[in-house]
Amino acid sequence: MPSKRMKAIADWALDRFAVKQIEKSLMDRRVAKGTWYHGDGAALFLLFNLLLITGAFLALSYTPSLEGAYPSVRYITDHQTLGWFVRGLHYWSAGLMVVMLVFHLFRQILLGGYKSPREGTWLIGVLLFFVVIATSLLGYVLRWDERAIYGLRVALNLMYRVPVIGESLVLVVQGGPHIGSQTLPRIYAVHVIFVPLLLLALVGYHMYLVVVHGITGPTERTRPVASSEEQRRLYKADAMSEERGEIFFPYTAAKSGAMAGVVFLVVVVLTLVLGPGRLYPEANLVEPSYPMEEWWWSWYSALAALLPPWLATTFYIGFPIVLFLLLVSLPFLDRSPRRGLRNRPVAVALVSLCVIVILSLSSLRARSPWTAYPRAEPPPVPDGVVLSPQAEQGRQLFAQYGCNSCHPIDGHGPQFAPDLAASRSILSHAEFRRYILNPPEDIAMPPYEGRLTDDELERIIDFVMHVQITRHR
Ligand code: HEC
Repeated sequence: MPSKRMKAIADWALDRFAVKQIEKSLMDRRVAKGTWYHGDGAALFLLFNLLLITGAFLALSYTPSLEGAYPSVRYITDHQTLGWFVRGLHYWSAGLMVVMLVFHLFRQILLGGYKSPREGTWLIGVLLFFVVIATSLLGYVLRWDERAIYGLRVALNLMYRVPVIGESLVLVVQGGPHIGSQTLPRIYAVHVIFVPLLLLALVGYHMYLVVVHGITGPTERTRPVASSEEQRRLYKADAMSEERGEIFFPYTAAKSGAMAGVVFLVVVVLTLVLGPGRLYPEANLVEPSYPMEEWWWSWYSALAALLPPWLATTFYIGFPIVLFLLLVSLPFLDRSPRRGLRNRPVAVALVSLCVIVILSLSSLRARSPWTAYPRAEPPPVPDGVVLSPQAEQGRQLFAQYGCNSCHPIDGHGPQFAPDLAASRSILSHAEFRRYILNPPEDIAMPPYEGRLTDDELERIIDFVMHVQITRHR
């Protein structure tokens, strides 16, 4: 009888692939009921998988070399069948992953999700957070356009200032004393092999711990819980209760899946409407690059730009380190028994403040196209040049307005823009004015219209012309 035979085969397969055990230990287990926001974990898991799949397809055509990278991204975007769509999904999944990660993190702080016995779950989550953020930077360097190399230069610059190991770190990343043929293969290997393997392990372990320790259940969210023993007792009671517990599959899975589904739809819609991340002109190692970061770094850029120059660099390197230490020690600092949104007014105030600050800084950054960070040191006066008092003021303004965060003078300073002392073309006074107030489009220099007073502009021009005239005499 064929149906009997089919059943025998099915039973055999269920047994040999141990499907029943999965069903029993994972699907049919009773858990404490979650609410809609508990779906953020599932959404993150979905985005992670989407990134793995789209990333694997992108890797089929991407060429990790200085000459090949940019043309291959162009090819994927413009010519390959559905290439733009796959790149778009990858790009927007990455962006939303950062957003959802921040949401997930804030939610745990709001609920006290890191409290015992879930400290392990939290600590692995913190690691995940930093690995994902770092990977998002590596990902956009792979495009190898002007923005990518700008991001890379900023990152290397910061790395260089890390005490003790800074120099070696830069050498390892670059694969030599300069950005060169070794650099992209390294970043590529880390982005597509090291990091995904690390993430797979961490994500797997994080989820295993969520299965073992459960989510912050209904009872925990309403009354103080002093110890992990008490928590375990309460969780078990929740899971077994008719109204506070449920069976994981299909009830909890469906609820979590709902949020994941919404996030997936958002990714698809963003891809269809906005397309993949914009490609700037190809990166090159000599000319200036476009000073702009991906949107999820905007608030950070704005903050660094607003700080006094002497603090900006320290902040740039110090902030992630301090944040890491703070997050790691959070479960050990906050030992109050209160959990749940309503019982944690300090957490609510703190998270609200963070959200407001991040949003307003991002919008500030979106409205100001300038990335000219003020510098503490004015440019040096070239040999043989004597500055008039006005030109000397111009030299100070040159640093104050961040001109020398891009332009070197006589070979001193970062090489993001032409050396104004060795300028190829000598501009007339009027041309200078026009250029600085409104540089041509597509030139990676911010317009200074409205930012410089007339007087300041004149002094700066005075300085530049002094330096130039002497040079070209
Ligand atoms: C974010 C980087 C950046 C900042 C900040 C910046 N510039 Fe520029 N600047 C550029 C780039 C890029 C170019 C053009 C490069 C090219 O022509 O390819 C340029 C070109 C110029 C030129 C024309 C040079 C020539 O020979 O054609 C002048 C003059 C100039 N900048 C002055 C200034 C002054 C003055 C400031 C400060 C008030 C300033 N720039 C701030 C990036 C910057």
